[in-house]
Amino acid sequence: MKKEAPPLDKVTVQKPAIQVWRSLFRHPYPRTDRERKRLARTNFFLHLHPPHIKRKRIRVWYTWCLGGTSFLLFCILIVSGALLMFYYRPTVEHAYQDMKDLEFSVAFGRFLRNLHRWAAHGMVLTVIGHMARVFYTGSYKPPREFNWVVGVCLLVLTLFLSFTGYLLPWDQLAYWAVTVGTSMARAAPFIGADGPFRLVDTQSDLSFYLLGGRTVGASALLRFYVLHVFVLPFLMLVLIAIHFWRIRKDGTIKRPL
Ligand code: HEM
Repeated sequence: MKKEAPPLDKVTVQKPAIQVWRSLFRHPYPRTDRERKRLARTNFFLHLHPPHIKRKRIRVWYTWCLGGTSFLLFCILIVSGALLMFYYRPTVEHAYQDMKDLEFSVAFGRFLRNLHRWAAHGMVLTVIGHMARVFYTGSYKPPREFNWVVGVCLLVLTLFLSFTGYLLPWDQLAYWAVTVGTSMARAAPFIGADGPFRLVDTQSDLSFYLLGGRTVGASALLRFYVLHVFVLPFLMLVLIAIHFWRIRKDGTIKRPL
């Protein structure tokens, strides 16, 4: 049967402010199990876990929250890195001086730089720790093999982000560390200087493409900068999204052993 429209004097018109509030905070604070379940289904962040989950599975001592901490550090790196970009120019004339200005002239510049640096060191440690946790709890086994592979790519990207960031201060340490690092790339299997897939000639191998030349110079600085601020973070974001989606699809965190 067709429902009759309420009489006009009974229709309540919502005030715009209330409407805006309700469009942002769509549900009241959940008090019953039913409301909690609905929230887990409809909230983007809570959706990482299914509506039903055993308390044991999400205990802190099981995961040590190492994956979550890696993600938190990644977010800190994105925000602090974006702020650093306001002061840093990736050219041979300016790079070193801009870092010095950040240390000594810019308000909170030293804090910002240290925050970025320590978050990067921390992320390398937490990602390795997270990988060890996943290994020791056997969480790489079916159906999670694909997510393990995505994780390995995330580890490589994390290390590569650290490596590309190392050159940017353009000081002696950065210069020689990257000279050593890219010389190691010359020995890479297959695509290194002596490998069958080196491109062009014995000099034009992987390190040539990384540096944009044969020595660490202006092109290397620009290449490392573009990789560090755009290419690698973008790939990382895409892979993190796939990683989180797979956690949910694989039935969330593995049952503790
Ligand atoms: C940027 C780096 C990474 C981030 C942000 C990240 C994030 C997460 C988060 C939040 C979880 C949920 C459970 C937890 O916190 O432990 C998780 C689970 C998982 N991660 Fe990662 N992860 C990263 C790197 C890796 C690496 C390097 C591997 C392995 C090579 C890996 C493999 C897995 C697997 C297999 C699971 C499912 C574990 C289970 O079901 O118990 N992840 N990750």
